[in-house]
Amino acid sequence: METNIQSEKARLAKIEHEIHQLRAVIEGTRSNNSLASDNPELGKLQVENMKLKHRLEILNRAIAAERNASSANQSGGPISILETLTSLFTEAIATAFPEVCKDVPTVITVSSSPKFGDYQCNNAMQLVQKYKALGVTKNPRDIASQMMAELPKSPIISKVEIAGAGYVNVFLDKNFSASAIMSILQQGVKPPRCEKKRVIVDFSAPNIAKEMHVGHLRSTIIGESISRFLEFLGHDVLRLNHVGDWGTQFGMLIAHLQDRFPDYVRISPPIEDLQAFYKESKARFDSDEEFKKRAYSCVVKLQSGDPASLKAWTLICDVSRREFQRIYDRLDVTIIERGESFYQKRMEVIVEELSSQGFLEEDDGRKIMWGENREAIPLTIVKSDGGFTYDTSDMAAIKQRLQEEKGEWLIYVTDAGQATHFQVVFSCARRAKILDPTVHRVDHVGFGVVLGEDGKKFKTRSGDTIKLTELLDEGLKRSLNKLLDKERDKVLTPEELKAAQESVAYGCIKYADLSHNRNNEYIFSFDKMLEDKGNTAVYLLYAYTRIRSIARNCGGDFANGIEKVIASTKLSLEHEKEWKLAKVLLKFTDVMKLISENLCLHHLCDFVYEVSTTFTEFYDVCYCIEKNKQGEIVKINAGRVLLCEATSRVLKKCFHILGLKPLHKI
Ligand code: ARG
Repeated sequence: METNIQSEKARLAKIEHEIHQLRAVIEGTRSNNSLASDNPELGKLQVENMKLKHRLEILNRAIAAERNASSANQSGGPISILETLTSLFTEAIATAFPEVCKDVPTVITVSSSPKFGDYQCNNAMQLVQKYKALGVTKNPRDIASQMMAELPKSPIISKVEIAGAGYVNVFLDKNFSASAIMSILQQGVKPPRCEKKRVIVDFSAPNIAKEMHVGHLRSTIIGESISRFLEFLGHDVLRLNHVGDWGTQFGMLIAHLQDRFPDYVRISPPIEDLQAFYKESKARFDSDEEFKKRAYSCVVKLQSGDPASLKAWTLICDVSRREFQRIYDRLDVTIIERGESFYQKRMEVIVEELSSQGFLEEDDGRKIMWGENREAIPLTIVKSDGGFTYDTSDMAAIKQRLQEEKGEWLIYVTDAGQATHFQVVFSCARRAKILDPTVHRVDHVGFGVVLGEDGKKFKTRSGDTIKLTELLDEGLKRSLNKLLDKERDKVLTPEELKAAQESVAYGCIKYADLSHNRNNEYIFSFDKMLEDKGNTAVYLLYAYTRIRSIARNCGGDFANGIEKVIASTKLSLEHEKEWKLAKVLLKFTDVMKLISENLCLHHLCDFVYEVSTTFTEFYDVCYCIEKNKQGEIVKINAGRVLLCEATSRVLKKCFHILGLKPLHKI
């Protein structure tokens, strides 16, 4: 490895030197041109200049490609196959087709079938088109073969072939793959190298006193997984719960509380059922003018810091907080509450700033702010009654997160319905120079609605929102029934059964959510998510437990401290199915890289499912342990057991990100 890096460095230095020389020559020909405009040599020089420029372009691309590849190695991060192949083919294309390679992004994909190799480069047709535009006719297969001829040597490739209309198929190298799997065993499952950032993930964010609905469940599940994912990559993650704890609903709640429990400052009122309490106060608010007025004055008093109002507000928030926490505990979610109220002072400040910088416009008594390009709708920064809005709190929050928290990457997880809101907030923040797109990354992570099995919005029969606690209880009940159907109670201790029940119930709810492309709606069906076949949490949990038990069943060094076996075993990957499994495991790094771009966790679900099904194919035909008729172990194939071990380690890491709790026994 060391010497590899040394020679890469030497090569880089050589190329850089060559570039300097070329630059000098090009500069030289330029000045010659201007001095000797009548010079008969001029034409020749210009041609020469063109050629040199091409050469320079090639070298620049080569340097970028080399940098890419060698920096990945130097950091000790696991190799990204897609990135490495992209670099290699980029270089090949630049060398073979310098006149058209500009604006041709290298396209490498996983091959659809093993007969087309493991990966393929799909650029030939596009290059043909580029030549056509220059009036040159070329054949895509010829292009592919030229590309192949210029492909730099790499330890990750065993061979390349041309196929079909001009694809270049790449076959991975077994030795390289075996050593990459060995490093998973020796060093653990490592994230790809990336620039570490301070990331703030805003998720869950239910509203106090109002029902926490399935939309909040999605935000909670997705936000928690994104946070775990980013932590795995090594980012510094702050998880924030931007609860709605400062809105107008508090006016009516407090006014109602004053009437029902005048003694609330001394004694905690019995408002355990905040929902019901909220409904009562809302009914009064809608029907009683007197009450309505008082409710408004209560909000004003609260927001100006009146102690009695604050006391009432705290009581109400506490009840909600306890309810939310119960759900977070059940789902194993960690989050810090920092609700809208936190920004009260900061809202006053930002309104001042935006106003003095001339960003606010009068509109029918309101103060509004448009984004950079007056897109969609403006934000309402101050209402006509002088109050602040959801928009105001998000402007104050984005500033606080970027400037005080020093966030470099802000993520907001809410339903897709709020996409415009966030696009406008980002745009206004850019306009006000709070957000600098050259240093900050911002993402709205939207998601579709949850549908019931009837294909309509997920609601109770009577049309109410579904209480999350009840939904989780239902999951527990169903998962227990499933386990009892399979007579697992006969095999598991009561504690093990309970652990299995919870892991299956919460796991299946989370996994059903995460395994769908978050941008789409999905149908919530306990029957589907509890199936033990197909891409479900139940299938995966069983598969994982089975894999874990293999090493344990080998006994000896395999069961206690497999490190010794790791140190003394070489992977052969001889059998076709071993080789296939290894190649699937090596996709892990690329899956991680893809998710860090699009924050779509269904890619990870697809990956764990592919790992599990490929593992089953392998395990069905490859003996890891051979036993005699008496059931005694007669032979252990250590390499294969290690492949099982690597599989389980990769799965474990993925399960953690997806919030699945693996079980010892199920
Ligand atoms: N409480 C809001 C809702 O229920 C979600 C808040 C999302 N976060 C934010 N910074 N706006 O829709």
